[in-house]
Amino acid sequence: MTKLSRRKGAATDLNAPLATSVSNVICSLMMSIRFQHEEEEDEVEGERVKVVDDTSGPRFRHFMGLIEEGFRLFATVASVNFVPILKYLPGLKNAYRKLEKNRLEMAEFFQETVDVHRKTFDPENIRDIVDTYLLEIEKAKEEGRGELLFDGKNHDRQMQQIIGDLFSAGMETIKTTLQWALVFMLHHPEAQRAVQEEMDGVVGRKRLPTLEDLPYLPYTEATLLEVLRRSSIVPLGTTHAATKEVNLNGYRIPKDTQVVPLLHAVHMDPALWDEPERFRPTRFLSAEGKVTKPEFFLPFGVGRRMCLGDVLARMELFLFFSSILHVFRVECPAGASLPSLKGNAGVTVTPDPFKVCLVQRPTDAEFLSMGGGGGVSDGSALRYVGGH
Ligand code: HEM
Repeated sequence: MTKLSRRKGAATDLNAPLATSVSNVICSLMMSIRFQHEEEEDEVEGERVKVVDDTSGPRFRHFMGLIEEGFRLFATVASVNFVPILKYLPGLKNAYRKLEKNRLEMAEFFQETVDVHRKTFDPENIRDIVDTYLLEIEKAKEEGRGELLFDGKNHDRQMQQIIGDLFSAGMETIKTTLQWALVFMLHHPEAQRAVQEEMDGVVGRKRLPTLEDLPYLPYTEATLLEVLRRSSIVPLGTTHAATKEVNLNGYRIPKDTQVVPLLHAVHMDPALWDEPERFRPTRFLSAEGKVTKPEFFLPFGVGRRMCLGDVLARMELFLFFSSILHVFRVECPAGASLPSLKGNAGVTVTPDPFKVCLVQRPTDAEFLSMGGGGGVSDGSALRYVGGH
């Protein structure tokens, strides 16, 4: 926030700062790593000031590039799941080759992380998810069941995959939803003002919002729910398969049939939602002003294989979104047109690149210096990479 405020409302593409911040959450939990926001000087209102770089260090930038490319390529090759013969098309063969090359490069990065953890491992001080796995592997070996772990598959290879899955599932989704939230706030300044007024009343102007505030901020929560519904960033969920023949509403689904949950179709069904195209947060509020979620609201899927990270996702979305809107008014740069509401389909549906002006809202105290409650720790116990 402090770094963004230095831009003094100049048009900014938030893609890179959001990618770095969101990555830092999942990377701290998984492997105690944070990436640095790189700073550089820029001319703002005729003055040279330090601002957040539009990119975040070469190593991180490269890493992010691999993830983003992976998401795009994955969508390209998805057609093969339905028409297998397509895999012989030269374009798709190339996409597969590129995906494999990128996967190997990322696996190398993850393996380095596992190796560093192994060298510094202390069973009395479990630092993160990688340590938790290492501890479990140690225990399993001691108890003579090491061979059974991960169905007998290579432990390191499995850890590489888990880190990769959590990182890609936990970063791109949050970043994209936050970008859509900003796009909808630009299109609906009245909703933005309502969120800000609610936070001003509940949180006040001396600190940032915290998770404890969430139950008292129904309009803010409803706005995020409407962003999740309207953007449906994972429109096809993930492909499942029937493990046995089932009968669903009179339809016979044979064993092994692939099942694609059309979450976007559910979220935009006019039989379920009044005027589904319209962005209207109040549809998630009861007459008493309480947050209410119908059972057909499924941004994280449904059932035993629904999103593993939904609790973390909801916390992150709230903290990032509410903090940005509490500190800044989000405006469209002068002369620019509003970003399109039409997304670009990959594994997730992303908005076109866009810039926003973050105009600092008046504060009672200098909470941007992060001295007050709800400030952001510098995570000094964590290992920083990427930005230097
Ligand atoms: C706005 C944020 C997010 C959205 C909208 C979202 C949505 C989804 C959806 C729709 C699925 C498929 C569920 C199904 O097929 O039934 C899924 C699966 C998954 N998500 Fe998320 N997700 C988000 C954030 C996260 C985060 C932060 C993490 C990790 C920390 C995560 C990890 C996963 C994993 C591991 C799966 C696969 C679960 C399985 O197959 O058992 N997601 N997510």
